[in-house]
Amino acid sequence: MRKIVITGGAGFAGSHIVDEACQKYPDARVVVLDKMTYAGDVRNISHHVFSNRVQLLVGDVADLDLCRRVVKGACLVIHAAAESHVDNSFGNSLEFTRTNVLGTHALIEACRQERVPKVVHVSTDEVYGEVMSGAAAEDDVLRPTNPYSSSKAAAEMILRGYIQSYHEPIVIIRANNLYGIRQFPEKIIPRFICHLLTGRRLPLHGNGSNRRHYLSTRDFARAVLFVAEQGVVGETYNIGTTEEYTNLEMAELVCKHFGRSVDQLVDFVPDRPFNDARYSISWSKLQGMGWKPQHSLREDLGMLVDWYRDNLERYTELFGTPEVQAITQTLAMLATSGAAAELKVTT
Ligand SMILES: NC(=O)c1ccc[n+]([C@@H]2O[C@H](COP(=O)([O-])OP(=O)(O)OC[C@H]3O[C@@H](n4cnc5c(N)ncnc54)[C@H](O)[C@@H]3O)[C@@H](O)[C@H]2O)c1
Repeated sequence: MRKIVITGGAGFAGSHIVDEACQKYPDARVVVLDKMTYAGDVRNISHHVFSNRVQLLVGDVADLDLCRRVVKGACLVIHAAAESHVDNSFGNSLEFTRTNVLGTHALIEACRQERVPKVVHVSTDEVYGEVMSGAAAEDDVLRPTNPYSSSKAAAEMILRGYIQSYHEPIVIIRANNLYGIRQFPEKIIPRFICHLLTGRRLPLHGNGSNRRHYLSTRDFARAVLFVAEQGVVGETYNIGTTEEYTNLEMAELVCKHFGRSVDQLVDFVPDRPFNDARYSISWSKLQGMGWKPQHSLREDLGMLVDWYRDNLERYTELFGTPEVQAITQTLAMLATSGAAAELKVTT
């Protein structure tokens, strides 16, 4: 039986790769290696774990001995484990280097020692840094600008050394921002949705003009396995979409879905120490091989809101118990309806 290892598989993007792998390879054994940080949630993959399709191993990708045991006999390793939230990286940058750089190094060394025949490394469009016009292609210079993207670029440099020196069978992918269910509500879309579901205001960095592209995580997961099968060893592939919004446009989009006016709900908060104005990548290389995005955020937003409404209790540490959530929401509705206009709901 084929064994596929997915690191970070209990996180947001990783769990969608697990879904795709289980569907695409019904006969494979899928093993998830995940440290179960705040961003990992067993419920993201419990549907597979309970049906014995997926084995969840809790551990650190920076542990070489553990990685060797986990990847032994695997035909494919997909490396999605990471510290992923840029805001956190400004306060805790060493942890980002430990997991994203040392962790990637330990995992690839384990894959080398165990002769894993293919490794897909999940990277990000943020390694190119700010792209104000046009679109970055795979061969462009990497100019990361924050501790998160620097750690992702540094990981790629380690991998390049392994490709060159050891002919390690590595393929690297760099994706746009992702949207989908199960994303931890520290990221902009689920945060806005959860804030509106619980009657809170929307915090917006700076003046809200930073632009991002948003790719469906289902399209992303499909691309990851497409590249695993068809990607040329040593190559890098951008995975992108044309759907682009400023943060303020994103707030407007989500508010409109709730029938609310963005003007009444946005709080402009201090920006990050540095915040790339825009990322943009060209994914013509992947498109030329036959992949293209099939979903759009505009069409998927209703489904996303429904999912977060149904799963709000997952995030009680952020938004209070279901009872507190219900009270906060009622107070906010009263406040905006004018019935209790003096009420101010704070986060
Ligand atoms: N989310 C996006 O918009 C996006 C866009 C482009 C690329 N990426 C990349 O995709 C990958 C997954 O991102 P995500 O948004 O799903 O992140 P996430 O934070 O939701 O999940 C990360 C997962 O990795 C696990 N993890 C963290 N440290 C670990 C360690 N030391 N050992 C083992 N597991 C560990 C966490 O427990 C969690 O399950 C990352 O490599 C990220 O750089 C994400």
